[in-house]
Amino acid sequence: MARTAQTKNPCPVPRHWRNELKKVLITEGQIARRIKTLSTEIERDFSGRALVIVAVLNGTILFLADLIRCLSLPLRLDFVGVSSYGLGTESGELVFTKELRLDVRGRDVLLVDDILDTGRTLHRVLGKVRQLQPRRIKTCVLLEKAVHRVEKVRADYVGFSIPELFVVGYGLDFAERYRNLPFIGVLHSRFYAELPSSAAAEPSTHLKRWK
Ligand code: PRP
Repeated sequence: MARTAQTKNPCPVPRHWRNELKKVLITEGQIARRIKTLSTEIERDFSGRALVIVAVLNGTILFLADLIRCLSLPLRLDFVGVSSYGLGTESGELVFTKELRLDVRGRDVLLVDDILDTGRTLHRVLGKVRQLQPRRIKTCVLLEKAVHRVEKVRADYVGFSIPELFVVGYGLDFAERYRNLPFIGVLHSRFYAELPSSAAAEPSTHLKRWK
């Protein structure tokens, strides 16, 4: 069962980020505790299986690193790269930028991503991995937003359900920034409301989440 992230301010924004972030939505401690719980569920469900973790680049990096350190299961790790090439705030076509290298046929796969929003990414990656005939696939996301879902896809393990907020940090970016924040923060609207037109014309993946 996913936790609902607090919308009240759970802790102050670190001084260095105060100009850019409106608030901390999910603290480092809350993330760590939730990952512990998720990892216990995953260990129980995949016990005794040959597990392959497939992580979706790039936003998943911090979540993935912390999650797998909590897993005491023998596992192998691989990545897929997916980018959305779209204009402005519209979702664009999804393009694979990195293919799987491990053979997942007959194996148990855990697909890991940082956020499930429209569901296009997870839907597309699931379709691709299924063609490789794994024994089963389960999905795990740190964050889930329900309002923009366009594909009928769900995650088996969800860290936090969050409201419609412009979140960054802990792997999630805006214009490729903020991925290194150890917490999930909410960006001040002036940053994304005043995007230069050149930014909207770039192969941008970060804009599509926030329409
Ligand atoms: C983000 C995120 C998910 C995807 C979710 O990736 O990492 O993969 O969007 O959105 P969806 O459910 O609407 O498809 P993004 O394309 O921004 O790339 P990134 O991981 O490199 O930031």
